[in-house]
Amino acid sequence: MTDTPAPPEGSPGPPPGTELVTRPGIVVRDVHRAFGSVQALDGVTFSARSGAVTALVGPNGSGKTTLLLVLAGLLVPDAGEVRVGGHDPVTDGPAARAATGWMPDAFGTWDSLTAREVLHTFAAAYRIDAATARTRAAELLATVHLSEYADRPASVLSRGQKQRLGLARALVHDPQVLLLDEPASGLDPRSRVDLRVLLRRLADEGRTVIVSSHILSELEEMSDDVVFVSRGRTVTSDELGTGTVRGVAGASGTWHVRALSYAALVSWLTSVGASWRPDDEQDPHQPPREQPGGVLLTVDGDDGAAKLVRDAVAAGVPLVSLAPAAGALERAYLALEEERR
Ligand SMILES: Nc1ncnc2c1ncn2[C@@H]1O[C@H](COP(=O)(O)OP(=O)(O)OP(=O)(O)O)[C@@H](O)[C@H]1O
Ligand SMILES: [Mg+2]
Repeated sequence: MTDTPAPPEGSPGPPPGTELVTRPGIVVRDVHRAFGSVQALDGVTFSARSGAVTALVGPNGSGKTTLLLVLAGLLVPDAGEVRVGGHDPVTDGPAARAATGWMPDAFGTWDSLTAREVLHTFAAAYRIDAATARTRAAELLATVHLSEYADRPASVLSRGQKQRLGLARALVHDPQVLLLDEPASGLDPRSRVDLRVLLRRLADEGRTVIVSSHILSELEEMSDDVVFVSRGRTVTSDELGTGTVRGVAGASGTWHVRALSYAALVSWLTSVGASWRPDDEQDPHQPPREQPGGVLLTVDGDDGAAKLVRDAVAAGVPLVSLAPAAGALERAYLALEEERR
């Protein structure tokens, strides 16, 4: 679902069979991994492009952490192929690890090391020289707002502070690919905003960023693409039947449209052959609505939205609002769960 940009015109594509090796970002093909009788990954296939934040969404136990561990080279898959920044973590571990920053869902620290020493230690493991490591550690501690805790034992940091130190650690070797397992858990609202801004910057610098989380509203704001995982399998957009998989925040996703007259809106959408569905979600705290509050439809980015407004107004449809559908990711997620029950 997430293709890398096409090569410039006239340049030859990769020779057949080398695609997995030459494509940047992350490529996962039919990956399986069992723990005893539990099939944690049962055919995961997706790609994550560089320059974008890809959300990994799925219920508890669906295999997200297992998948991230495979990508980080910490678990060997039973079957399937993985490329991270063009490297195979199974056969070329050192190159894959050098390209990858990994932030686990809970970041354990050694009792005796300070926050700064933790970063120095990891920098040394990546063979970064001491002077560079000192500069880098100071920069990263400032980035995650831990400078004033730099010389305190990491073990006394609060849960959210440990998470932030974990993020700094993942960035210590300036990796091309970032794998973050529930990075926002335990963070206060300010730190969550900081995280969002940081991940956007890292993606804009051309890195590949994968984030797993259960906070769907937040993922919706920070992600460009989303991969749904259910019972160890990736779920395609066709199975989900929604337009939310690419362009989560509405770039080419689901939009919510409301008009003074629902009937006029629907009749016009039908006459122009638009594909829409009623937004019939009921607010449990309000009396039941007699007709849907609007419609949901897939719009091709901001240009598509602007055209829709122009055409609707020209046709005399009394439009009230048009906006990216809030909670589109949540709806898709709940639909997925409903289907799997
Ligand atoms: N080390 C392990 N030994 C045995 N079973 C495991 C192990 N790690 C994971 N599992 C099982 O594999 C499945 C997937 O677990 P995983 O941790 O990948 O889920 P997850 O999607 O990250 O869940 P959560 O949202 O709760 O973090 C679960 O059924 C889990 O019990
Ligand atoms: Mg997990």
